[in-house]
Amino acid sequence: MNVIPITLLFADGVAHRLEVSAGGKLIEAATDAGLNLLTDCSNGQCGTCTASLLSGHIEMDDYDTSVLPDSDRECGAILPCVSRINSSCVVEFPYDSSEALAEEASPIDGVVAAVQQVAAEIMQLTIDIEEELFFEPGQYVRLHPEGTEISRSYSMANAPGARQLEFFIRQVPGGAFSGWLSQAKAGDKVKLSTPHGTFFLRDEERPRLFVAGGSGIAPFLSMLRGMSTSARALPTTVLIGARTPEHLFALDELKALGRIMPQLDVRLAVEQGAFGDSHAGYPTDLIAALGLDVSTRVYLCGPPPMVEAGRTAAQNAGIARGDVLCERFN
Ligand SMILES: Cc1cc2nc3c(=O)[nH]c(=O)nc-3n(C[C@H](O)[C@H](O)[C@H](O)COP(=O)(O)OP(=O)(O)OC[C@H]3O[C@@H](n4cnc5c(N)ncnc54)[C@H](O)[C@@H]3O)c2cc1C
Ligand code: FES
Repeated sequence: MNVIPITLLFADGVAHRLEVSAGGKLIEAATDAGLNLLTDCSNGQCGTCTASLLSGHIEMDDYDTSVLPDSDRECGAILPCVSRINSSCVVEFPYDSSEALAEEASPIDGVVAAVQQVAAEIMQLTIDIEEELFFEPGQYVRLHPEGTEISRSYSMANAPGARQLEFFIRQVPGGAFSGWLSQAKAGDKVKLSTPHGTFFLRDEERPRLFVAGGSGIAPFLSMLRGMSTSARALPTTVLIGARTPEHLFALDELKALGRIMPQLDVRLAVEQGAFGDSHAGYPTDLIAALGLDVSTRVYLCGPPPMVEAGRTAAQNAGIARGDVLCERFN
C-alpha cells in the first residue's frame, strides 16, 4: 500500500509527522496517531476544523462552500474533516498541540435551570453545573441532552468562572437540538464537553470591532462581560444585526454594559422595521462608514453570508485578513 508522509504543525510550533495511506482521511490518520483535531460537524458543514495547507496538495470530499469560500481555499484554507491525502503536505492548525493531545476530558454534568424565549426565534437556555467553568470568552461547549443522540455546539454568553452557564439559541425549523429545546424544562439533564474553540477574545492593546448576526451575539456577551471587569478601556464597537426588531435581544444588558464601559459603541441594524437610530439593512453595511483604525481586531459571528460580507467590508477598510476572526453559525 502506498504510504504518504504528512506534517501537522500547531500554533505553539510543535510539529507531528504522520504516515497516511494514499486516499486516507486526514482526521482518521490524526486520530490513529493519538491527535484529537478540533471538529464539530465532521462533514464540511460548520467550518470549525478550518486549517491551512502550507505546502503540497489536498483533495476534499463534498463540503458547504459558504463555510469555506473558494477565495479562502485559493489562499490555502482547508477543512481537515473532509480532506484526503494523496501527496505529501504540511498542514497548520490555529491552536496549540496541547489542545489536540489532551485526552477528551470526562463530560461535565449539567441540569437545566431555565428555558425562556427572549426574542423571535431565540431561546435562552440556562444550565447549572457543579463547579465553576473557566474558558476563554468566546469559546463554546458541546451540549448533549441525556437520553438523546443529539450533540451540538453552543457558545457561552456568560463570563468565565460561573457555575451557571447561559446560552442564546436560535430555533432552527426541523433542527434536532431545536426540537429538544422547545420541550426542555428545568431539571432536565445535559452533558457538556469541556470548552473549545479558537474564536476567543485576544488579550491585546488595539481597538475591537464585534459584528453579530442573530444568536451570533452570544460569544460577544461573554467577551463584553469579561471586558467590563477589566481596568483596560479599549475602543470597542459592536454592530448587531437581526431580521426584525422582534428578533433583537440582550439590549438592556448592552445598555447596562455601556454605562460601565464608556468606550463601548453599540449600533443596531434590522432588515425590516428599522426604528430610532437603527440602520435599515445588514450590520456589515455599517463597517465602511466607521472609519476603522487599521490596527482594529475584527470579530465576526453569525450566519455564513454575514461573515463573508463582514470580511470583505473589513478588508476594504484596510484591515489585514489575519486580523479578522470568524465564527459561523449555520
Ligand atoms: C462553534 C459553534 C458555536 C455555535 N454556537 C451557537 C450559539 O451560541 N447559538 C446558536 O443558536 N447556534 C450556535 N451554533 C449552531 C448550533 O451548533 C447548531 O448548528 C444549530 O443550533 C442547529 O442545530 P439543530 O440541531 O437545531 O439543527 P440540525 O438538526 O443540525 O439541523 C439544521 C438544519 O438542517 C436540516 N436538517 C437536519 N437534518 C437533516 C437531514 N437529515 N436532511 C435534511 N436536512 C436536515 C434541519 O431541517 C435544519 O434546517 C454554533 C455552531 C458552532 C459550530
Ligand atoms: S468539523 Fe465541521 S467543517 Fe469540519
